Amino acid sequence: MGLTDTVSLQLQAGQVDVWLASLSNVSSGEALAYVQLLSEPERAQWQRFKVEDARLQYLVTRALVRTTLSRYADVPARTWQFETNAYGRPHISQPQASGSLRFNLSNTTGLVACAVSMDCEIGIDVENITRTVDADAVAPSVFAPAELADFRKAGLEDRRERFFSYWTLKESYIKARGMGLSLPLDAFWFELGGPSPLLCVTERCPDIPDRWRFYQHAPTDEHMMALAVAAPQGVEPSIYPRWVTPMSLIAESA
Ligand SMILES: CC(C)(COP(=O)(O)OP(=O)(O)OC[C@H]1O[C@@H](n2cnc3c(N)ncnc32)[C@H](O)[C@@H]1OP(=O)(O)O)[C@@H](O)C(=O)NCCC(=O)NCCS
Repeated sequence: MGLTDTVSLQLQAGQVDVWLASLSNVSSGEALAYVQLLSEPERAQWQRFKVEDARLQYLVTRALVRTTLSRYADVPARTWQFETNAYGRPHISQPQASGSLRFNLSNTTGLVACAVSMDCEIGIDVENITRTVDADAVAPSVFAPAELADFRKAGLEDRRERFFSYWTLKESYIKARGMGLSLPLDAFWFELGGPSPLLCVTERCPDIPDRWRFYQHAPTDEHMMALAVAAPQGVEPSIYPRWVTPMSLIAESA
């Protein structure tokens, strides 16, 4: 069956699908198939990576976004073309017939995530929480005062999780806004402790906090994920995370 013969998945109003791919146990056959999906500039970029883990992460990320988008549109995975905004956020440039399909990507040691939606603003962040980081030293430069105070209140056993909780939430919001670090990190913050994280903003980060919903998830014992979603007015978002091997679509479409 060709890719054009497959039935495209549908995204309902407010629906956000999150596709997660593990970076462990990627076979050489899979890697070879992924390389076939790359554009010429992507292939050149992939070849420039000297560190094997970074090289694989780049390759799987490209394969994941291409095969994921092809689940929702009748477009072969290698055909997608992308452009970035002034802050580096990629979006689909071709084919334009793919409509308003939106995506956001995040990768970390061992994991790649791709969120897709038709009508929501979305931002995703995944972090490997076992990575070496001096949280006490970093926190003052990335957290707003309320977050810093709450982080410092956490006991030793909760500290790392609290740190990455704020970190992933802040990244997910920055990424959903698509403006990178031009949004000052101390101009917005999160309140944890309720049923879901709440966003607070100052005048240096103009926004309507009520339009945002935030979701936290632990895809594995080593990873934390946060997703920021702004759905159209009156629509409550629905989130569907799932694991995938990007290869599976290639196999289906072979
Ligand atoms: C670049 C940035 C968007 C994310 O960087 P990151 O956390 O290192 O990386 P992630 O894996 O989560 O995301 C990278 C992907 O986001 C996407 N991206 C890049 N710029 C983006 C932007 N402005 N908005 C949304 N998404 C963006 C890209 O798809 C990129 O992957 P690609 O280059 O392979 O296509 C930005 O937020 C940044 O530089 N952060 C620095 C880290 C920091 O200080 N964080 C403080 C948090 S408290």
